[in-house]
Amino acid sequence: MRIVYLDNAASTPVDPRVVEAMRPFFTETFGNPSSLHGPGRTAREAVESARERIAHLIGASRPEEVIFTSGGTEANNLALKGVAFANRGRGRHIITSLVEHDCILNSAAWLEGQGFEVTYLGVDSDGLVRPADLAAAIRADTILVSIMHANHEVGTVEPIRELASVCAERGVPFHTDACQSFGKLPLDARKDGIGLATLNAHKIYGPKGVGALYVSGSVRIDAWQHGGGHEFGLRSSTENVPGIVGFARAAELCADERLVETPRLLALRDRIIDRALGTLPGAYLNGHRRRRLPTNVNLGFQGLEGEAISLLLRLDESGIAVATGSACSSHQGDRPSHVLLALGRDPVQARGALRATLGRFTTGEDVDRFLEELGPALGSLRSITSVRPAAAVLGGA
Ligand SMILES: Cc1ncc(COP(=O)(O)O)c(C=O)c1O
Repeated sequence: MRIVYLDNAASTPVDPRVVEAMRPFFTETFGNPSSLHGPGRTAREAVESARERIAHLIGASRPEEVIFTSGGTEANNLALKGVAFANRGRGRHIITSLVEHDCILNSAAWLEGQGFEVTYLGVDSDGLVRPADLAAAIRADTILVSIMHANHEVGTVEPIRELASVCAERGVPFHTDACQSFGKLPLDARKDGIGLATLNAHKIYGPKGVGALYVSGSVRIDAWQHGGGHEFGLRSSTENVPGIVGFARAAELCADERLVETPRLLALRDRIIDRALGTLPGAYLNGHRRRRLPTNVNLGFQGLEGEAISLLLRLDESGIAVATGSACSSHQGDRPSHVLLALGRDPVQARGALRATLGRFTTGEDVDRFLEELGPALGSLRSITSVRPAAAVLGGA
């Protein structure tokens, strides 16, 4: 049975063209980029070429503004902790939002324990942060604002240009976690007024375990990981050369293909949303209808919210891979989604979403198979849930 993979927000397959680009850096060009000999210099050239290409793609002024990391989590930790500690003489107030990824929220919570104060901005019922709320929250001692570009669960795209311009007026650096949007939406750090941006490779058909933090030359930031002084002193550790090479190739492929790929994905996404809302009883959409990633569908089903995991498992049995929330939150068991709670859903609804995320290798046939299986899966769960109270009485529990 061919698996219909609809969990591209969690991770994507590595594009064979990316694998090809990486291959020589495992066995042929394996030198340490810090070594002075020929194999080392070749590896260094590959890393610096990747840095230049990624810097160009995101509108950085200089390649040195791109710091390679082990992924999005590390880049977000470096952004928050590095800026907080470098600027603590100026102030100790940080602003973020209630819908961020756990690696932002948990870094912010840790900073609160270190004597920083964090304001968590709420969102509207579509998941949008309001620029006016940000303007009202900025204080004289605010040293960083961090608002994601696109949400990992509901796909809502935040107005980062407006948010960055509010920050620029007040002289506060603006960080955006662009892990879900990079490669799918345009990002121009200079034009958009972004001070720091987090990127990773495994959401864009590149390898896992590699990412980057863009840090504008005007932002003060301290290292968070200490060692031999790699990555301009901001991130010590021998560079992941094959990963970095693959990351740059993956980013280029997304940029080259975006104009053709986006309308294709939008059509597939809207086919699912329109069919689900039009034909499945009680179906509703989480997140903004239009301001959302071309790859994201997040659905709830009235009366079945407690059954999201059963629905996921039923679809899995039919060879369809979807998610109930974000992949990362599966570590936290059945906890309601903090993103859906922030959108105003109740705790039952916030435990009951089904996320289907499309990607480069998703076909129209995949989407049709998902839609064909979803209706009967929901129907069978509805028949079980409607007999459950009687069964409970029979069991005497
Ligand atoms: C919005 C967002 N930020 C950060 C991360 C973490 O990235 P990584 O898995 O590369 O550490 C993810 C990945 O799930 C994400 O979706």
